[in-house]
Amino acid sequence: MNLIAKAVALLRAGELVAFPTETVYGLGADASNANAVAKIFAAKGRPADHPLIVHIPDASHLARWARDVPHTAHTLAVMYWPGPLTLILKKQATVPDAVTGGQDTVGLRVPRHPLALQLLKEFNGGIAAPSANRFGRISPTVAEHVREELGDAVSLILDGGPCNVGIESTIVDLSRGQPVVLRPGAITAQQIAAILDMEVKEGATGNAPRVSGSLAAHYAPVTAMRLVPAERIEQQLAASLAQGKRVIVLARRPAPPGTHHLHWMLAAADAASYAQGLYANLRRLDQTGADLILVESPPPTEEWRAVWDRLARAECGAGP
Ligand code: TXA
Ligand code: MG
Repeated sequence: MNLIAKAVALLRAGELVAFPTETVYGLGADASNANAVAKIFAAKGRPADHPLIVHIPDASHLARWARDVPHTAHTLAVMYWPGPLTLILKKQATVPDAVTGGQDTVGLRVPRHPLALQLLKEFNGGIAAPSANRFGRISPTVAEHVREELGDAVSLILDGGPCNVGIESTIVDLSRGQPVVLRPGAITAQQIAAILDMEVKEGATGNAPRVSGSLAAHYAPVTAMRLVPAERIEQQLAASLAQGKRVIVLARRPAPPGTHHLHWMLAAADAASYAQGLYANLRRLDQTGADLILVESPPPTEEWRAVWDRLARAECGAGP
């Protein structure tokens, strides 16, 4: 039996399968099976009221999961699916509460990774999948990270190589009129506003549904981590070394002359490549044995917004 057929058989039997998407690896279960979905929460150590995204093979499946689908959803689906965009829509009554955390909405997305698409097409249904990490920890962007995070809790891990977007999908809430971006990602609020030709709000509003990726502390390394403005990074490094700290910098430019390579890790200078490597870099930094990670702040521009968001949450949730 090939691996996709094996994965489909496991999903139908109510087991968990980890699979690659273009954003991060997902931990999947049959979204129509509440018992299977419950296994996701157990494996991740995730609170049961945090809703999951349902991955579907294509937009023709929208009506099975969502009702009163607005034209804005169809427009965005035509433009961005398959791709790193999750739509929050009013749910069909048949969607299990285990998936939506009891809310009246459901998150839907068609991922772009070829293995994910093949899996979804052969499964021909919805796969509920959060990122395949333990709750609050760094999302996995290669199969090996999934094994590190979840070990034997997952029956099968499909290995599709490194994820090429590297951070989670943009989440846009279309369930209550004006679109609201609940989680920034590779597809920006500006792009969505331009395509819909409407104003798009950013950030959760008062009555917006819960997004666990929007908790202040998330995506976090175990080591202490600080964001430092670019112009202060060398001074801050020197000061920390002078205090006897084992410190390492993550910067978008090469180490200044005289800096030991153990104290400086080079990240990509453009936003898309930086995002692609971000979580693997945070994992590597976490494993260096350093007791402080200094991250050079990214530029304050729209294209860096999603990276900013993840770095700020990582800083907030990081170790002592
Ligand atoms: O790129 C991604 O979105 C990845 C891949 C695997 O598809 N998935 C992912 O799942 O990041 P997760 O569970 O780690 O984050 C999904 C976020 C959660 O913060 C959850 O609260 C939110 O989506 N979400 C899901 N359904 C929702 C709903 N009905 N209303 C509001 N937020 C929702
Ligand atoms: Mg996650």
